[in-house]
Amino acid sequence: MKRTRSIVRGIGSYLPKRKLTNQDLEKLVDTSHEWIVQRTGIEERYIADDSETTSILGIKAAEAALADAGLRADDIDLVICATSTPDYTFPSTATMIQTGIGMTHGAAFDLQAVCTGFVYAVATADKFLRSGSHKRALVVGAETFSRILDWNDRTTCVLFGDGAGALVLEAQEGEGTSADRGVLTSHLRSDGRYRDKLYVDGGPGSTKTTGVLKMEGKEVFKFAVGMVADVVQDAFKATGTSAEELDWFVPHQANRRIITASADKLGIAQEKVVITVNKHGNTSAASIPLALDAARKDGRIKDGDLVMIEAIGGGFTWGSALIRW
Ligand code: UT7
Repeated sequence: MKRTRSIVRGIGSYLPKRKLTNQDLEKLVDTSHEWIVQRTGIEERYIADDSETTSILGIKAAEAALADAGLRADDIDLVICATSTPDYTFPSTATMIQTGIGMTHGAAFDLQAVCTGFVYAVATADKFLRSGSHKRALVVGAETFSRILDWNDRTTCVLFGDGAGALVLEAQEGEGTSADRGVLTSHLRSDGRYRDKLYVDGGPGSTKTTGVLKMEGKEVFKFAVGMVADVVQDAFKATGTSAEELDWFVPHQANRRIITASADKLGIAQEKVVITVNKHGNTSAASIPLALDAARKDGRIKDGDLVMIEAIGGGFTWGSALIRW
């Protein structure tokens, strides 16, 4: 049966100018390049300066995605920005991106699911497009986590970086099979009981401050692999596809060990796994579109490829989406 699909029309990303290496971090906190690489796989990350706000990063990524799609702002009628580090409490970063790209019509809103934000945003945009209410969505993941880190806490400050990525999704009619292009399925989960494992200790409605990130890394790690495997299996089941048919596994980039263990658990060959955590660190909601853009631009992801994205983040939130490019 024919059905509307949200197909990928374009992708883009943007990184701040300043690169921060593990060697640079050795001068800031009691850590070592060897420890960071061995425990996380991270070698370097990018840190935004004061002028590079989340919306600025998001605008640059959105412009790159529009150029890749061969579209103009006029062609877009929905902007969703996944972020936990908005420029302001309000207005939304999405409306700032909307203005920044020169778009004065349609709707724009932020979506907050921490590191799972981009998967949530893709799933949300897909539902808008499939409902027929909107035609083309700009889905942005943009973050400046460097602003909410405790730079004296070596257990967290070495892990994160800043950046942004964006996808243009367009409603098109498909045949209703897993051979269709577009978002084939998405699966979102959350469980607020795990709130204290990964959170920011401030906010406008509680402390009236921004707060800093707190994480029980080992605990998050323990849950991550099982949660990821569950939602990825859900996506395979819903579409009648399998790990063997997958062309690319593009997980949230938090830790190379979590990524590798998840792929092994799911029976996904390591050569199908896209890893950028070494270059970007954990950029929260931006990590998946940054990784997708890297793999698209270097020729790995080709039209027609089956691509699984998945993430876990604060909340906990977790989710997956299966996309035929
Ligand atoms: O994006 C949202 C999802 N977040 C994640 O997926 C993060 C999940 N967790 C992780 O990636 C890992 O748990 C970490 C990378 C955060 C930590 O790795 P770990 O293997 O779980 O290390 P640990 O926390 O058990 O720490 C081991 C040791 C400790 O020392 P002792 O107690 O054994 O003496 C830490 O104090 O490493 C020490 N340590 C460090 N040493 C050097 C912690 N941070 C550092 C550091 N440099 N930066």
